[in-house]
Amino acid sequence: MVVNLAILVSGRGSNMEAILNSIKIGFISNVEPKVVISNRPNVRALDIAKQYNVPAIVIDDGGKKGRDWDYDKRIVQCLQEHDVRPDNGLVCLAGFMRILSKEFVNMYKYRIMNIHPSLLPSFPGLNAQRQALEYGVKITGCTVHFVDEGVDTGPIILQRAVEVRDDDTVDTLAERILKREHEIYPLAVKLFAENRLRIEGRRVIILSS
Ligand code: GRF
Repeated sequence: MVVNLAILVSGRGSNMEAILNSIKIGFISNVEPKVVISNRPNVRALDIAKQYNVPAIVIDDGGKKGRDWDYDKRIVQCLQEHDVRPDNGLVCLAGFMRILSKEFVNMYKYRIMNIHPSLLPSFPGLNAQRQALEYGVKITGCTVHFVDEGVDTGPIILQRAVEVRDDDTVDTLAERILKREHEIYPLAVKLFAENRLRIEGRRVIILSS
């Protein structure tokens, strides 16, 4: 069965592009990008989505953050208008700078993924690369996880480790982590589309093909 994909963004869109490109080159099959939604107007991700011929929609939140089912209802309506439903859809958060309401999360249970630039459960929330650098860890990385009601707390699908170098700045570290993000996010989407993710409690078991 084909998975109908929505990607939610707020800015640069490099993870979104990695996923769309992986679909285009056939690394991921049986996934149809249906819509890209941004909570902010005029962001780069919207231009990239158009280059990939994916409808790019702005649902402006006016900079208001915080869980808000009224706002999320507008997202859900847009998803349904583009045929991204709880029974056929996948929603990828890719630098989407909002926390989802529990109503939205429960409606699309285990069908919403997020990418986070640390090895969760270390350094959740904002500025994860800076948190890792300032804490002094020698290894950090990135995580793709299913979204639950918490912030960066859902079942972990894939992780990659990245070494922290003595001469790293937040920018150099973030850049190396981002390269790994661009590998594991498309891979997680591919595994989902191949129906190879089994959730057992907090664990996500990857079935062999
Ligand atoms: C990435 O570092 C991602 O891990 C985090 O936000 C950033 C988004 O970057 N959630 P981009 O918009 O995908 O380029």
